[in-house]
Amino acid sequence: MGKNEKDEKRRSSFTSGIGFVFAAAGSAVGLGNLWRFPYLVAQYGGGIFILVYIILALTFGFALMATEIAIGRKTQKSPSRAYGAIHKKFGFLGIFATVVPIIILPYYCVIGGWVLKYMVTFITGQGLSAASDTYFSEFIAAPVQPLVYFAIFLAATAFIIFLGVNKGIEKITKVLMPLLVVLSIVICIFVVTIPGSGAGIKFYLLPDPSKFSLMTVCSAMGQMFFSMSLAMGIMVTYGSYTKPETNLSKSVNQIEIFDTVIALLAGFMVIPVIYVFSGEAGAKANGPGLLFVALPKIFEQMAIGRVVGILFFVLVFFAALTSSISIMEAVVSSFIDMFHITRRRAIIFAIVIAIVLGVPSSMGNGLWANFTILGMDFLTFLDYLSNSLIMPFVALCTCLLIGWFVGPKTITDEITRNGEKMGRRKLYNVMVKYVAPVLLAIILITYSLAQFGVVTM
Ligand code: PFF
Repeated sequence: MGKNEKDEKRRSSFTSGIGFVFAAAGSAVGLGNLWRFPYLVAQYGGGIFILVYIILALTFGFALMATEIAIGRKTQKSPSRAYGAIHKKFGFLGIFATVVPIIILPYYCVIGGWVLKYMVTFITGQGLSAASDTYFSEFIAAPVQPLVYFAIFLAATAFIIFLGVNKGIEKITKVLMPLLVVLSIVICIFVVTIPGSGAGIKFYLLPDPSKFSLMTVCSAMGQMFFSMSLAMGIMVTYGSYTKPETNLSKSVNQIEIFDTVIALLAGFMVIPVIYVFSGEAGAKANGPGLLFVALPKIFEQMAIGRVVGILFFVLVFFAALTSSISIMEAVVSSFIDMFHITRRRAIIFAIVIAIVLGVPSSMGNGLWANFTILGMDFLTFLDYLSNSLIMPFVALCTCLLIGWFVGPKTITDEITRNGEKMGRRKLYNVMVKYVAPVLLAIILITYSLAQFGVVTM
């Protein structure tokens, strides 16, 4: 088979428009929505964070996602070459976009391992013990167990990557995503019935302007990148897999709405309950452990809590897996393109890097807790490096590339290629040219100043 033929074969992997939406949503919906979103809401003031997040998602998230998918479909290349194909001077962006999934994969698998541990805990009937206050902190600080679960999660991801895009990603997501939504709604309805949850629901839904700060915007923006799989080449890769006749505008709306709804549901499951148990300060104090501390407490109160607990963690596990698959797929396809190696070699290479960076990410909660970078444990540092620095930088350069170097028309033409309507087209133009670059520059400056203690995070 010639190189072009092979390329062609790899790139026509999504058999239908809806297949593409499910796969992209499968990548987008994951630990970002279920684990990261709720704890940031707790940390950055409840309702006000939600409000900022929704505004960003509908304006900025939409613009960037449309841009990335269109770049992928237009160039038919993976990120390492796609940006350069749009404009010679922007080839470097491909490298930055490639670095992000390399950084995220290791710690994503660590958290995926935590989910797996909870799934096993509930399946083996120990859900009650998981509701105790110290269960989570003791587990992540243990010397061996979190590493074992990390390794299993990583191995599962790598195994599915071996099966290839079509079989692996499409099939799993199509079945499980709708189930996740239904179960989340059921749990949310239960949360409303818990005595005292009203105050927590208020904290979650009513924006309190006095809690607004620049950090609310910065963290909401980083969260949006992570959650929607933006600024990391993933959507460029998926765009390159889509067929010319797929309606991109509609797909972008579906993915963005789906992703945001799941995040909102996850927050609704977690925040009011933890508010009942430990108030706002307690909710904040849980940090990245929030999901794991709050949910067992809900399940403990449900008559059929054990079954719901099993089902829930199984679904979170699969949501995490479909996302980690997309992260590893991005890493692997970039390695193949950059180093001209076989897929098998690229997978091994990706696994090695994930282990080298994943082990310290996991151990940073226990034996290696004293090893910090810029005052952060290793996992938090990787999260910070990718979400707060590299992703805003990639997004900023993407907006400059499209807004000022090749013009927004390059993207809107691709999106409306089959005569489709593009809603929010004017908004799109203004976003990529002006609003987004300014906002991103402010964010990058804020984070840099924070490092020197000028701004508090
Ligand atoms: N968007 C995924 C989530 O919300 O869990 C995470 C993710 C997917 C991050 C793909 C990075 C990535 F490349």
